[in-house]
Amino acid sequence: MLKITNLSKAYAKSNIYAVRNLTLELKKGEIFGFLGPNGAGKTTTIKAITGILPYELGEIQICGFDLKTEPLKAKQNFGYVSDNHIIYDKLTGREYVNFMADIYKVSLADRKERSQRMLEVFKLTDSYDAQIRTYSHGMKQKIHIIGAMIHKPPLWILDEPMTGLDPQSNFELKELMRGHCNDGNNVFFSTHILEVAERICDRIGIIVKGQLVSVGTMEQLKNSKDMSLEQIFLELAKN
Ligand SMILES: Nc1ncnc2c1ncn2[C@@H]1O[C@H](COP(=O)(O)OP(=O)(O)OP(=O)(O)O)[C@@H](O)[C@H]1O
Ligand SMILES: [Mg+2]
Repeated sequence: MLKITNLSKAYAKSNIYAVRNLTLELKKGEIFGFLGPNGAGKTTTIKAITGILPYELGEIQICGFDLKTEPLKAKQNFGYVSDNHIIYDKLTGREYVNFMADIYKVSLADRKERSQRMLEVFKLTDSYDAQIRTYSHGMKQKIHIIGAMIHKPPLWILDEPMTGLDPQSNFELKELMRGHCNDGNNVFFSTHILEVAERICDRIGIIVKGQLVSVGTMEQLKNSKDMSLEQIFLELAKN
């Protein structure tokens, strides 16, 4: 569903690769957690996967479609929630979700059914017709998530999705992620919340200074040592 091969990305005017030679393939039905210290290259990787940033070297395939040669087909297959909330804040929540649904050509019946369900889950129904600029940080995050998932993409790509969500919404989001993957789909998300990663991820990748330094299940990362994910993370990130 997501296959990254030897991805390297350097920003303009920088001679350092923000992401170096990254290779990773998601297995069907897994939640993959992408961890790493600030500035390690998580957002850069995610922006390359979503086609926002051009990349110099490597290949990215989404559901079998190459991002460079078949960008529209590749992009139809994922929903992306960025780490900021720069969305059209003069629109109401409903207008925004309809706008996203129009882009992805979602039928009126499907968008209604999907948005209603997620609005209820996130307790956003009462604010749906208010302008997004009146939303709180967490409410913006939620409408962002609803808009990104309205076309029911098989792959969810989420950059620090839990940031700013209250405990109940956090729980609901994790349930949605688990349910999505139980149906044979995939979630690729970055987080700094190690307890969440440890609890819900089927596999975890740790990136440090642009390089993927460890990938595996919690058991594999522990490598039969009695270490917490925090200890493993701190060990790998200290260099
Ligand atoms: N627009 C940019 N121009 C130049 N360099 C950038 C740009 N954005 C990020 N970088 C650099 O790329 C590297 C990786 O940054 P990135 O945002 O991918 O890290 P991250 O792992 O997402 O960190 P965080 O946990 O803080 O979100 C950093 O060294 C950062 O300074
Ligand atoms: Mg980031």
